[in-house]
Amino acid sequence: MIDHVLVDRHAAVQIIRMNRPDKKNAITRAMYGAMAAALTEADSDPSIRASVFLGVPGAFSSGNDLADFLAVAQGGEGGTEVFDFLMALARSQKPILSGVDGIAVGIGTTLNLHCDLTFATPRTVFRTPFVELGLVPEAGSSLLAPAILGRQQAFALLAFGEGFSAEKAKETGLIYAVVDESELEQTVLKAAEEIAAKPPEALRIARDLMRGDRSELIARIKEEGTHFAARLKSDEARAAFMAFMARKSAG
Ligand code: COA
Repeated sequence: MIDHVLVDRHAAVQIIRMNRPDKKNAITRAMYGAMAAALTEADSDPSIRASVFLGVPGAFSSGNDLADFLAVAQGGEGGTEVFDFLMALARSQKPILSGVDGIAVGIGTTLNLHCDLTFATPRTVFRTPFVELGLVPEAGSSLLAPAILGRQQAFALLAFGEGFSAEKAKETGLIYAVVDESELEQTVLKAAEEIAAKPPEALRIARDLMRGDRSELIARIKEEGTHFAARLKSDEARAAFMAFMARKSAG
């Protein structure tokens, strides 16, 4: 069986690679669980100084697995893996970087709001079709995006469903830099290595100061989660998931 999340080490840098290319890196509950465990390990292991999220060529992530969403919409149990992952992000103690190429949908976009440095390739499009799917923003994005991008750009991304090019993502502060596909991973790893070489205690305090009190973010993730769970069972969401599944079987 293929490992859909590969966790690796590159000296003091932890690499978390989403690896489900046949589904454009749609994230299953098991994948959220593996990524939550990796971030928790990074926080508790002093030899890890930074974490890096990567995807596969052309697909950082197509977001939450819609079959998992449909299962919950039809009355199934949701599990705690998504929440565990979001809490691990919100509470993270060490720098997190990401290298994004191609598809970055849903959590594939909002994950980057938690990153300290995101690099993306020119062909990347960031998109969060939450409202189209009958859902609401998640991962604290309703708090983080207005703070980072400003209210109007956050609305365009999270509610209007506009796809942001890598250039627009950089202009609006969603990402740090745009780099060519061929240089993406080496650029992210080089930055992560440089960060990992900095005095860790000073870096931790500097990062903590910039992040501020995490309690508001954690409370917002929970509040979004309550709405999200209710919306998953709504007629609007069920219809959207079934339309995607039908498109899939028709294709
Ligand atoms: N959940 C489950 N499966 C997904 C998926 C998702 N989020 N995104 C893509 N897939 C699957 C497709 O069903 C398809 O599977 P199949 O080959 O077994 O039929 C495979 O991944 C490839 O996707 P495809 O749609 O053929 O690729 P594409 O390049 O034409 O389009 C996307 C890529 C991401 C634009 C499109 O798949 C899409 O819109 N996915 C849904 C994204 C989404 O709404 N995510 C939830 C956000 S909250």
